[in-house]
Amino acid sequence: MIRIAVLVSGGGTNLQALINAMQEGKFPHASIELVLSSSDTAYALERAAKAGIKTAVVRRKDYVSQDLFDLAVVTTLKDHDIDMVVLAGYLSILGPAVIQAYPERILNIHPSLIPSFCGKGFYGLKVHEEALKRGVKVTGATVHYVNEIPDGGRILIQKPVMVQDGDTPEILQKRVMEEAEWIILPEAVRMVSDALDKGERV
Ligand code: GRF
Repeated sequence: MIRIAVLVSGGGTNLQALINAMQEGKFPHASIELVLSSSDTAYALERAAKAGIKTAVVRRKDYVSQDLFDLAVVTTLKDHDIDMVVLAGYLSILGPAVIQAYPERILNIHPSLIPSFCGKGFYGLKVHEEALKRGVKVTGATVHYVNEIPDGGRILIQKPVMVQDGDTPEILQKRVMEEAEWIILPEAVRMVSDALDKGERV
C-alpha cells in the first residue's frame, strides 16, 4: 500500500474529493494516512478528522528559515512513513529538501491549463481573474509533478472547462473545481499510486 499525505491550507474541497474517492474504493493500492496543514484554522483539518485521518500542522511562521521549515515538513512526512504527497490547495512554498526527499512523488493541482496562468503569484482567485481579463474561452485544470520550478513539473492530466458569458472569477473558480479539479486529482492519484505500488513510474 502506498501511504499518501495530502497537504492543505484552506477549505479542502480537493481533499474531500480524494477522501470520497478513497471511501468509494477508487484507490486500491493507496490510502490517505496524513493531512498536513500550513494553518491551524484550515477547514480541511475538520474534513480529515471527520474521515478519521491523522492531521498535523506545520506553519512557516514558526520556523526562522525556509530550511528549518522544510526539515519539519520532511520529518513529519517520514514520521508517518509517507510514500507520496499530494498538494491540494497548499499555499506554502516547499524548498529543495522536501522536493528531493520525494522525487516524482509529489503531485499538485493547479486551476488552469498550464502553461497559461501559472507560476509565481498565480494561486486562488487570481488565476481565474487573469483568465477572464485575457478573455480566454477555454480554461481548465492541471495535475502535475512538483519540482523546483513553480508549476513547472511534468504534466500528468489536464481537463478543459469552457468560460461562459457573465462569468465572475468566483463562478469560474467553482466551475473549474466541479468540472475538472475534483475529477482529475483523484484520477492522477490513482494512476501514480497504482504505478508506485508496482515499483513503476508514470
Ligand atoms: C483549488 O483551486 C486548487 O486548484 C488551488 O487552490 C484551490 C484549493 O481549494 N491550488 P480547496 O482547498 O481544495 O477547496
